[in-house]
Amino acid sequence: MERHREEICYYHLLLILCVCFFFPSLINGNAKEETGAAVGYGYSIESVTVHSSRMSFTAYLTLINKSSVYGPDIQRLKLIASSETDDRLRIKISDSDNQNWEIPESIIPRQSKSLPKNHLNSPGRLRILSKEKSFLSYSTSDLVFTLYNTTPFGFSVSRRSNDDVLFDTSPTTADSDTLLVFKDQYIQLSSTFPKNRSSIYGLGEHTKRSFKLRHKETLTLWNADLASANLDYNLYGSHPFYMDVRSASADGRVKAGTTHGVLLLSSNGMDIIYSGDRITYKAIGGVIDLYIFAGPSPEVVIQQYTELIGRPAPLPYWSFGFHQSRWGYKDVSDIEGVVAGYARARIPLEVMWTDIDYMDGYKDFTLDPINFPADLMKGFVKKLHQNGQKYVVILDPGISTNKTYGSFIRGMEADIFIKRDGIPYLGSVWPGPVYFPDFVNPASEIYWAGEIKRFRDILPVDGLWIDMNEISNFITSPPTPHSILDDPPYKINNEGIGRPINNKTVPATSLHFGNITEYNAHNLYGLLEAKATHAALINVTGKRPFVLSRSTFVSSGKYTAHWTGDNAATWDNLAYSVPGILNFGLFGIPMVGADICGFSGNTTEELCRRWIQVGAFYPFARDHSDNTSIRQELYLWESVAASARKVLGLRYRLLPYFYTLMYEAHKKGTPIARPLFFSFPEDVETYEISSQFLVGKGVMVSPVLIEGAVSVHAYFPAGNWINLFNYSKTVSHNTGKYITLEAPPDDINVHMREGNILAMQGEAMTTTEARKTPFRLLVALSSSESSTGQVFLDDGEEVGMGEEGGDWTLVKFKSWMSGNTAVVKSQVINGNFALKEGWIIDKVTCIWLDHNAQFHIVETSNISLSIGKNINMVMKLDQ
Ligand code: NOJ
Repeated sequence: MERHREEICYYHLLLILCVCFFFPSLINGNAKEETGAAVGYGYSIESVTVHSSRMSFTAYLTLINKSSVYGPDIQRLKLIASSETDDRLRIKISDSDNQNWEIPESIIPRQSKSLPKNHLNSPGRLRILSKEKSFLSYSTSDLVFTLYNTTPFGFSVSRRSNDDVLFDTSPTTADSDTLLVFKDQYIQLSSTFPKNRSSIYGLGEHTKRSFKLRHKETLTLWNADLASANLDYNLYGSHPFYMDVRSASADGRVKAGTTHGVLLLSSNGMDIIYSGDRITYKAIGGVIDLYIFAGPSPEVVIQQYTELIGRPAPLPYWSFGFHQSRWGYKDVSDIEGVVAGYARARIPLEVMWTDIDYMDGYKDFTLDPINFPADLMKGFVKKLHQNGQKYVVILDPGISTNKTYGSFIRGMEADIFIKRDGIPYLGSVWPGPVYFPDFVNPASEIYWAGEIKRFRDILPVDGLWIDMNEISNFITSPPTPHSILDDPPYKINNEGIGRPINNKTVPATSLHFGNITEYNAHNLYGLLEAKATHAALINVTGKRPFVLSRSTFVSSGKYTAHWTGDNAATWDNLAYSVPGILNFGLFGIPMVGADICGFSGNTTEELCRRWIQVGAFYPFARDHSDNTSIRQELYLWESVAASARKVLGLRYRLLPYFYTLMYEAHKKGTPIARPLFFSFPEDVETYEISSQFLVGKGVMVSPVLIEGAVSVHAYFPAGNWINLFNYSKTVSHNTGKYITLEAPPDDINVHMREGNILAMQGEAMTTTEARKTPFRLLVALSSSESSTGQVFLDDGEEVGMGEEGGDWTLVKFKSWMSGNTAVVKSQVINGNFALKEGWIIDKVTCIWLDHNAQFHIVETSNISLSIGKNINMVMKLDQ
């Protein structure tokens, strides 16, 4: 007998009809009609069933009072709370009798790979903690789920270890905006935060001035082609995930930095209203599929989040080099000139890009026969490759309906376009009239891979840039009359002004494969296109793919990198780039950058110089501009070129570090660019910082983001910090402090913290050349802790990264002070790859500050140690 299937009816609760007894205020309160819930609205608990496996339980909820707006209420709901792993609780609320839209597992497989085999016997099982009249509470390991038998009912999730309430929907106020509402086209869920103790991050994609969400924000999620130059409105991607970093509680039970994560897995359009002490989701469809990640540190939350949604794809080594792009390069000699310009200026250029200009009439997979003819283009790409450089081109989803165009003909034959009223939906983008491949349809993946292969047979591009995939449409088609999809009852705050959801995109009544409506699948398009493009590139090249997508959704990091879209060449936009990049780290898309020097509008020499200084430390570093602004290649101004040589020089020396962070991101989800609180969660001052970031755990970038400034006011968490351009310039404090540092026009402050070891290589014009240079270890010794660091090595392009049976080496370094010596050790895992490559360490530099904050440096000379073998060195410090 399958015992785990058997259900024990554990607890049957009586329907409580006398609502007024418990919460009279809810009945008489000043409920607001326009928010969707009328006075007295809500559900009460009908029954609760604990499943015998004790991994989950089901409660049925009955509607006790209807609301009058946004369509009919669902009468009976089913709530399933399950302990999916020891650190993850899932709460799903759906119509008990009908199937509403849910993101299919085929689109986002929910992965639980790290579940222990004996999970059924692990402490993650739900335990009934209390069974009182008013509530039932269950606990997984640290997460406690409590169901309130109130009218209306509510639930909360808290921590067992410190009683901190993490998510609380219990009806505590008479404001109808706080109630649970469930209709086919309006779902409302609301939770409180403890007063002044929650710092909230995430919920994108929006351009933000501040990384930490400010009180009173409406965050709309509906993928749209709007310039990211402007603050706050919904942009290209949707990520209904946030991270809640808690400050210490007054009673000392909650330690500062205790963090959890929350995902509302829904692809439907929504407004998320954040008021500081409350968050309210207002979604226009789907179900409530809520995940709570226990943390308890920021880093662990992202591990748990990416364990569910999938870890970031590894990206090729070359993609960490510098990229140059522009919309408006005229012809082959123009792009040849740019490549030559970089070479002449001795500024490293790894990847040359071409925007839509290369196409014939803006048709994907074609080459303009006049300006970018195939023979010249082949020669151009061949030369790039001979020089160790790469080439990436753009693709847009719209396929021109030109009747003689091969990609169109094949698309029609395969019948893979999105349809409306039974025929392919006709939109309009760069080439004019277009149809859009329906990436929900598995046949589209085959079609897309076929087109990419044909194109690559002509021009062997190294990566693909997928743009306009929100989907962007130059026209707004009229709504189908009386359609509740094209014109839903609740209007999300699209484009910041409540524009119709159909505005300049594919209409919501359009259909995907399997009769899935665009209304439900809209936010998934970019994800699905990235997935298809990623698979196609693996198929065609057999190598690790590079895809850059503008539109993203939960789990896009498994397939693609991202840039923050159409920013402007302004100082404000330079500053917005930091929160933008940090957000995507939280969303599981660690390879992210902003258009360096600004996309729209004319940049200036000073802005471009400051921008490359910080952009050199973005995970993805690309200069890109639009076709109406002045040229902004880094060699065009001598001061920008000089700064570029300096900062890209450091980036290239740090390439092994960046790449190892990619490995960490792929294995654990940890972002490459991180907010300061990732390394210093107990330091509450770091929660406010939006103008500095960490690369990995130990390198901090404090850029100038203000015009004319020659100093920077930067926060330094406690400890010793060593300037990476000039080791002897140090910052040292026992407690975190804001300090003002010099930042002359040609300089950016980049510091390494004590306790870290960087394995660096030499500068070069390409990553391939840089990889031929010997390694140097830079050890920032600490008197209070061991220093650690690691380096991951492989060929930079095998499809997997660090997989079993793959060809790779991981070296972990550790160093500590012992009397007047420093011990430097390494532990090599799978040394063969590194040995085969012949990499050596030719220098070890130890830096430390003594008790009087005096700077010391000791270097080995003339050593040649194989990096593939364990090292065990003792260095005298008193030289
Ligand atoms: C919009 C993209 O965001 C931008 O980067 C690109 O240059 C233009 N489309 C033209 O393709």
